[in-house]
Amino acid sequence: MSTDFRKSTVYQIYPKSFCDTNGDGLGDLRGVIEKLDYIKELGADYIWLTPFFVSPQNDNGYDVEDYYQIDPRYGTMEDVEELIAKAAERGIGLMFDMVFNHVSTRHQWFRRAMEGDPYYKEFFFFRRGRAKGQPPTNWESKFGGSAWEYVEKFDEYYLHLFDVTQADLNWDNENVRREVQKIVRFWMDKGVKGFRFDVVNLISKAAFEDDENGDGRRFYTDGPNIHRYLKELHDATFGTDDGIVTVGEMSSTSIENCYRYAGRKTGELSMVFSFHHLKVDFMGNEKWVLVPADFQKLKSIVFQWQTGMAKHDAWNAVFWCNHDQPRVVSRFGSEGGYWKESAKMLATIVHCLRGTPYVYQGEELGMTNADFTEISQFRDVESLNHYQILQDKGLSASDALRIVQIHSRDNGRTPMQWDASRYAGFTAEDGAEPWIGVNGNHDRINAAAQLTDPDSVFHYYRRLIALRKELDVISCGDIEPLAEHHPCIFAYRRTYEGHELLVAANFYGRSCQWKDAPDLIGFKRIIGNYREENRPEDGLWTFGPYETSVWYR
Ligand code: GLC
Ligand code: CA
Repeated sequence: MSTDFRKSTVYQIYPKSFCDTNGDGLGDLRGVIEKLDYIKELGADYIWLTPFFVSPQNDNGYDVEDYYQIDPRYGTMEDVEELIAKAAERGIGLMFDMVFNHVSTRHQWFRRAMEGDPYYKEFFFFRRGRAKGQPPTNWESKFGGSAWEYVEKFDEYYLHLFDVTQADLNWDNENVRREVQKIVRFWMDKGVKGFRFDVVNLISKAAFEDDENGDGRRFYTDGPNIHRYLKELHDATFGTDDGIVTVGEMSSTSIENCYRYAGRKTGELSMVFSFHHLKVDFMGNEKWVLVPADFQKLKSIVFQWQTGMAKHDAWNAVFWCNHDQPRVVSRFGSEGGYWKESAKMLATIVHCLRGTPYVYQGEELGMTNADFTEISQFRDVESLNHYQILQDKGLSASDALRIVQIHSRDNGRTPMQWDASRYAGFTAEDGAEPWIGVNGNHDRINAAAQLTDPDSVFHYYRRLIALRKELDVISCGDIEPLAEHHPCIFAYRRTYEGHELLVAANFYGRSCQWKDAPDLIGFKRIIGNYREENRPEDGLWTFGPYETSVWYR
C-alpha cells in the first residue's frame, strides 16, 4: 500500500450492490472480504465503503440510525474487524463513509428530540413556520419538495436538506460536534485508515431566510463556520494521525473554499470531491432535464480545478463515477461498437491527472447504465420523487421515465457483474432476487471474462493504477492544459523535475485531427487504447474514434 495519497488509488464499494454471500439478495460485508484479492489485483490502495451502519435504508444507509453498530443486513462488528484486518494484510486501507450533515429520524437523538427533550431538540433545527401552514423558508429538499417537515405537537418544522427521514444536525451546537468527534475516534481505534465525509460543506447554516432566486443552497453551502468546524474535527480526531487520509464530499462548492478544505497546510482535509465537471449535462443546477454534454465546459472546469488547486497547493480527488452518478461509459463514451475504446479513453483522462483517482465498483469493467424500461425497476428515493415531480410539471410518464433513465443514481447501483451466470455472480443462482435488477449485458461485461483477457478494460485500469506508483510525473507533476478549444481533443502535459508526460484523447466516436500537435521527439508511448503506435506527422495528429495515448520522456 502506498501511504502517500498522491500515489494512491481508491476503490469505492457500494456494499449493497457488490457481492451477496448469504443469498438474501443484498450485498454484504463478507462479500467484500471475499473479493479483497480482486481489489488487490487491480492495485487499489484504499477501499472507500459507503455506509453499512444501522439504518432504515430510506437512502441506502445515508440515513444513519446508529453510527456504532453494523446493520445486520450487511453483517456484524466481527465482519468489519475481519475486513479491516484482511485488507491490511493485503496492504489495503479502509475508508469509512461518515454522514454527519444529518441523521435518520430513527436515530435516538432525533427520537429524544421528538419526545420534547430540550437537550436533543438543540441537536436539530426546529423552527416556527412563517404563518399557518407555511414553512420557515422556501428552501427545497435536494430530493424534491420542501426542506422543512411540520411537527404538529411542537407547531414547528425541522430541517431536512435531503429526505424527510434525514434530519439535519445543528453543528452550531458544541454537543453535536463532540458526539461527531467521538464517532470518528471510535472508528480510528478500530484501525480505519481514512474517512469520506458526506456532503460535509453543508454543515454550517448561515441564516434561515427565503431564497428569492434559488432553492436555498446559498444559505447553507460553504457556510460561515465551515472551515472552523472542519479544522476543529481535524485537530480533535484524524489530524493526530498522519496515516489517515480524508476526503470531503463538497456539494455545489466554490474552488476558493476548496483551496482551504484541501490545502496541504490548512489542516482541514486531505482532498475534496467537487462536482461541477459532472453537471455539464444539466441545465444550470437542474439535473432532471435532457441536455447533451457540453465538452468545452467539461474541459474548462477540469482544467480550472487542476491548475487552480495546484497553484494553491491543494489536492483534488479525481473521478467520473460514484454511487450517485450514471456510468461514465454510457454518459460520455459509447455502449456500442467502441464501448471498450471509450471506457479506456475515459479512464486515461482521469488517471493521468493531478489528484487521487477514485474507481467506482464496475467502472474498471466498463459497466454501463441500467437497462431498466419501467419505473417499477427503480429503487432510488431521489429518482422516484423526481419521476413524480416531472409529471406534476406536466411531462408525460414516458418523457419523465426517459429523464430518469439517463440521470438516475440507480444507473450506478445495479449489481456488480462478476460473471455470466443468472445473477452475474452477485448472488447465488438459487438465491433471492437481487434487491435491484442485474444488467442484461453481464453476459458480455463481467469480471471473469476480463481477468483472463490482457486487452480488457480491467487490465487497462490495472496498468494506469500501477503507472501512478511508478512515475512521479503522474503523482506529483504540474499540469498544463493543451488544445483547450479543440472540439474533440482532451489533452494535457504533466512535468516534474525534467520528466514530461503527454496525454491526448479523442473524446468522440469519429476520427479527428489535431493540428499544431506537440512534437513527440524522444517520447515513448507508455499506454494507449489502440494497438498501433500513432504519432503526429509534421504537427498533424490524426485520431481514430475515442483513441487515446500517453507519452513519456
Ligand atoms: C451524498 C451521498 C448520497 C446521499 C446524500 C445524502 O451526496 O453520496 O448518496 O444521498 O449525500 O446523505
Ligand atoms: Ca446478503
